[in-house]
Amino acid sequence: MISAERIPNNVNLSSDKRLQRALEHWQPKFLHWWREMGPHGFQDYHQVYLRTAISVDPSGWAHFEYVKLPEYRWGIFLAEPVADRRIGFGQFKGRPVWQEVPGEFRNPLRRLIVTQGDTEPASVEQQRMLGQCCPSLYDLRNLFQVNVEEGRHLWAMVYLLHSYFGRDGRDEAEELLARTSGNADKPRMLEAFNAPIETWLDFFAFAMFTDRDGKSQLLSLSESSLDPLSRTTRFMLTEESHHLFVGDTGLSRIVDRTCQLMKQSGFSEDVRTLGGIDLPMIQRHVNFWFSLSLDLHGGEISSNAANYFINGLKGRAEEQKHADDHVLAEDVYMLGSQEVPMRNALNEVLRDWYQQDCLHGVERWNKKIAGHGIDFRFVLPDRKFHRHIGVYAGQHFDPSGHALSAEEWERRRDEWLPSAADTAYLKSLQAAPVFEPGRFANYIAPPLRGINQKPINFEYVRTEA
Ligand SMILES: [Fe+2]
Ligand SMILES: [Fe+2]
Repeated sequence: MISAERIPNNVNLSSDKRLQRALEHWQPKFLHWWREMGPHGFQDYHQVYLRTAISVDPSGWAHFEYVKLPEYRWGIFLAEPVADRRIGFGQFKGRPVWQEVPGEFRNPLRRLIVTQGDTEPASVEQQRMLGQCCPSLYDLRNLFQVNVEEGRHLWAMVYLLHSYFGRDGRDEAEELLARTSGNADKPRMLEAFNAPIETWLDFFAFAMFTDRDGKSQLLSLSESSLDPLSRTTRFMLTEESHHLFVGDTGLSRIVDRTCQLMKQSGFSEDVRTLGGIDLPMIQRHVNFWFSLSLDLHGGEISSNAANYFINGLKGRAEEQKHADDHVLAEDVYMLGSQEVPMRNALNEVLRDWYQQDCLHGVERWNKKIAGHGIDFRFVLPDRKFHRHIGVYAGQHFDPSGHALSAEEWERRRDEWLPSAADTAYLKSLQAAPVFEPGRFANYIAPPLRGINQKPINFEYVRTEA
């Protein structure tokens, strides 16, 4: 038996016996999955200084305490309802939002929820070995915070499946634990979630760029006419911003350290002799994770995207900021020189939003580099570069968007994307994990401040006495 108190929630779980039974059945499977596929080597003897959401008001969702990872209280939270909320776009614009799933949209809604849900445990699986090679206790704690919250995001989607999709929903909830990242027979649904993340540079780039795709998707789902989906994803966004912070500041701290080392070595570009990560290598990781995350937004021209919008299932990010009629029956989008009905180009519209959001981070890092007096600028690669989904899949472009032959692409690929040698070098840097409070691996600068106003040398992860 599980008690409702073990699952902090604001959905009145103790009064919903049917839902409680369904979750009772699912929870042991989740915990089994977490032990098998969650952070390796940190399940039983370590306590982590984590934030647990215990309610959705500002004082409640940031409750900090030491917990063992398997004892984290994964809860179910929906953002507070908006009184008289109306559908904000598509053919039903202006009508009241739905509290139940309309029969005719059951399949596409289930598909949207399952696709989102599948990414959450996938990233935990991808990152499960990183604790073994952490650059500091501060970073280790942040990794685990991201991991438990991705676990909670899985709970959030499973809550929707159990509550609104009956038998099919329960089956899907089981499948979310049956697929695993990189598994030959049952892989995760989306490609970016099937490769292990073995280096901390990859982890930070993933949290910066791929979690930001999560933000794109959650923003557009939070516009949904299905009110429980909207409220669930709205609360997930508050947690997602911490993941983006971890990625953005992690990369920024590596950049900072690299610049310091460059200055020490008389502005040499090659900081490897000093045990640093050179800026071009960071750029290759930006190229890789940005391009994979562009793919996650789907094809440029998409009838699915059009149907989701027309039927009010999934809107644009920040729908109300768009100065149009939110119906888009007549609007067009210019895809290069091609005119496309706007509704069919909504993946591309979301990608535009995403690219802008990424750009802010890149500009911040560039300011930092300039502040060190170093002449180097990061750039986001062209949207045609290294794509596997959409109209540019199967073609080759350099990061500036110039077409290349297959031979030239093969010859020059390692200039633009992380190579096996890059990964081997990064692994050599992180071979000795840093578990001493306040100490940081040589390749990364300390953060400006600690978590929850604790000092930087706080023991963010401790072994049980
Ligand atoms: Fe998530
Ligand atoms: Fe995330």
